[in-house]
Amino acid sequence: MPTASLWERTLTFFPQFRRSLTEECRPDATVAVVGAGDGKFVLPLAEAGYSIIAIESDASALNGGEVLLPTSGIAYAPGLVERMKGADLDHLVRIRCADFLEVDPIEMAADAVWTSCSWHYSANHKRPLGEFVTRMQRLVHPGGLFGAEFMMPVEERHQHIEHYTTPDKLARYFTAADWTVLLTLQTEAFVERAHVGQLHDHTHRMGLLLAKRHQVDHEEVGTRQR
Ligand SMILES: C[S@@+](CC[C@H](N)C(=O)[O-])C[C@H]1O[C@@H](n2cnc3c(N)ncnc32)[C@H](O)[C@@H]1O
Repeated sequence: MPTASLWERTLTFFPQFRRSLTEECRPDATVAVVGAGDGKFVLPLAEAGYSIIAIESDASALNGGEVLLPTSGIAYAPGLVERMKGADLDHLVRIRCADFLEVDPIEMAADAVWTSCSWHYSANHKRPLGEFVTRMQRLVHPGGLFGAEFMMPVEERHQHIEHYTTPDKLARYFTAADWTVLLTLQTEAFVERAHVGQLHDHTHRMGLLLAKRHQVDHEEVGTRQR
């Protein structure tokens, strides 16, 4: 790949998502990436042949611009659009610059959805975490895959913000008959090196939840429940 993502070196459970994607979805599936940033995940997914719907609220992550980096200071960073073109993959990606909480999930309907550490951003605290998660669930076609890695609480202030969550709490959104949780994982607290947006080494704890949406005959479920 000609350029590296600003987020290239941050810890990720993306390999676990990729494995489930291969197992659960067709090789030409459409994957929605929520909080796509400059494409750390969009580029490898497109390179693997998936069609991507990328949604990102930060226009500079999409179009490039100046960023403040821990060692090099202010530098120009290419955005998702330039990085996709540089890799000759732009034909595989539909980009939407918008707040995910304001977009109708039907517009982003896909076979799989992936997000990486997006919903804890303070702009999302205006709405309950459940709304973010439910919107992601609604855009997944029956038979498809839900994947999210997220920040878990490590600091005292995180204990009061539900958007810093745990795999157990998140799994409560997946109890309906059409969802099965495939995998949950979590790290211990770990030190991550300084990166864009966090200019000093800092402590994180991360979780993962992968779930499959089933094709459910709702009449049959209703009969069973009666
Ligand atoms: C930790 S960054 C990761 C970026 C991406 N994973 C990458 O590697 O390039 C999370 C991204 O989610 C985006 N984001 C957070 N909340 C969002 C929302 N409601 N709608 C769209 N994007 C959002 C942020 O702007 C940020 O670019």
